[in-house]
Amino acid sequence: MLRTLIRQVGQYRTASLLTPLFTALEVVMDVLIPYVTAWLIDRGINAGDMRNVYLYGIMMIGMAFLSLLFGILAGRYAAYASSGFACNLRDAMYRNIQTFAFSNIDRFSTSGLVTRMTTDVSNLQNAFQQILRVSVRAPFRLVLSVIMCLVINPGMSLIFLVALVVLAMALGCIVSRVGRLFGQVFQQYDVLNNSVQENISAIRLIKAFVREDYEVLKFSKAAQGLYRLFVRAEANMALMSPVMNMVVYGCIIALSWFGAHFVVGGSLTMGELTSLFTYVMSILMSLMMLSHIFVMLTMSEASGRRVAEVIDERPDIVNPPAAIARRPGGDVEFFRVDFSYHDGSGEYVLQDINFRVRAGETIGIIGGTGSGKSTLVSLIDRLYDVTQGGVLVGGRDVRTYDLKTLRDAVAVVLQQNVLFSGTILDNLRWGNPAATLEDCRRACRLACADEFIERMPEGYDTRIEQGGVNVSGGQRQRLCIARALLRNPSILILDDSTSACDTATDARIQKAFREEMPEVTKFIIAQRVSSVQECDRIMVMDHGRITGFDTHRRLLETNQLYREIFDIQTDDDGDFDNWEDWK
Ligand SMILES: Nc1ncnc2c1ncn2[C@@H]1O[C@H](COP(=O)(O)OP(=O)(O)O)[C@@H](O)[C@H]1O
Ligand SMILES: [Mg+2]
Repeated sequence: MLRTLIRQVGQYRTASLLTPLFTALEVVMDVLIPYVTAWLIDRGINAGDMRNVYLYGIMMIGMAFLSLLFGILAGRYAAYASSGFACNLRDAMYRNIQTFAFSNIDRFSTSGLVTRMTTDVSNLQNAFQQILRVSVRAPFRLVLSVIMCLVINPGMSLIFLVALVVLAMALGCIVSRVGRLFGQVFQQYDVLNNSVQENISAIRLIKAFVREDYEVLKFSKAAQGLYRLFVRAEANMALMSPVMNMVVYGCIIALSWFGAHFVVGGSLTMGELTSLFTYVMSILMSLMMLSHIFVMLTMSEASGRRVAEVIDERPDIVNPPAAIARRPGGDVEFFRVDFSYHDGSGEYVLQDINFRVRAGETIGIIGGTGSGKSTLVSLIDRLYDVTQGGVLVGGRDVRTYDLKTLRDAVAVVLQQNVLFSGTILDNLRWGNPAATLEDCRRACRLACADEFIERMPEGYDTRIEQGGVNVSGGQRQRLCIARALLRNPSILILDDSTSACDTATDARIQKAFREEMPEVTKFIIAQRVSSVQECDRIMVMDHGRITGFDTHRRLLETNQLYREIFDIQTDDDGDFDNWEDWK
């Protein structure tokens, strides 16, 4: 994990190395200043020598100035290095996510990926900056200060060493408890983020179902859990200060007591005693900083692991070596296909699928929700790979094609279709930037989208809001169909893509397909028999198996399931929705 993260420092390596260097110089100055102070007091003030007062005074000012300068440089490089690091991390994650297969995304979940790219990266950025600055400053200062104390008066230094051990033990105790609590805090963050992500994106659904109270309660439970953990962690952190104070005052009293004796006895000067006071503070502060770093590291460890997981994830579906880059034709064949979303679990979503479709055929697919229709078509353009058997497009296994070539030839209108914010024209051209306005108009005419677009005040320049909320469901579906048509596919797959259109529009779209794109193989998944009955052949799916594959007329005679669906949907009340109840 560490190696993955460190690699992302990349071009900011110099800045990352300069930061500790300048920090170290800053600390050297800081540590030397009290030493000079001792000289100023002993050789200047106590000796009544004004020249020495000026000399050492100017030296101190010079050193203070240098310390400030180094501090500023260190701060600037730290900011530069850590922001750059975060930027590289996000870049690397984003680039890798683009290569993910659907199965990779299933593994992380979309909201998980969002959290990793935002909160987790921010944590790491923060930690990196702190590490660059404080992790050098604190130990370095600690060691230098201890050395200075030993130089000034080895006997008195024993006091610190005792104090140091006591404080280190106390802080160690606190830090390990706080670290554990913060580990839990981050797990709870995930729960909370998931809840936020899901609810904000589903806010319309929640309102429609009047489930606000329930969701608020669920959220507030997660928030309360987080609150309690935070309070416990912070309460432990808050112990640090009093413990620290106790030790500091203990040291000062001990110092004053022994110091007085030594000064009176003549083995210690007044100036040396003053600088000892400064060093003791410096030592104990460094220790405090160190303990903060440990907390910080435990907090960012989880984030680091989560970020590294995304960067290191290998896509499940990759281009084969010696890939075929020739555009496939429209023949499709499934050959003894079994498929499971979780490899090795034995839960097959598709079983023993065998069929052959010639280029240009229109195939309807019908079956209950969860019967595997979407899964089946997602194998055609390799959104997932088969578990067993093979899928052939244009006579060759899909796994031998160049991925881009294959997916260019297969246009899919997914069940959960998405429009981007931008104009209608932007959205249409998203799949094929080379499409002319004439192409777009034609595609929209085929998809029956032209009628409502032309009625809009700004026509093709009308803006689509984020998520396509300002067009109706049926309109959105037709825009998505038009967008798919613009890719000039050999195979077109509509996954329940006309469900929100009325039956007449649905029929007109299919008629246009038949007449104007006879060479394209079409798969039309639908819930309504009326949407598929004109197809050349219809596939009836039930629990991951094909129970019938024939024309409408023949299926009515031979397939019991199909006939039942047909009877229910053509009942006098014409209520298609009962299909769900019937399952
Ligand atoms: N990404 C996924 N991960 C795991 N299981 C899934 C996934 N997508 C669908 N499934 C499961 O596979 C089965 C078939 O789903 P699907 O092909 O979407 O059916 P249909 O499109 O016919 O409604 C369902 O039981 C569903 O729960
Ligand atoms: Mg589906």
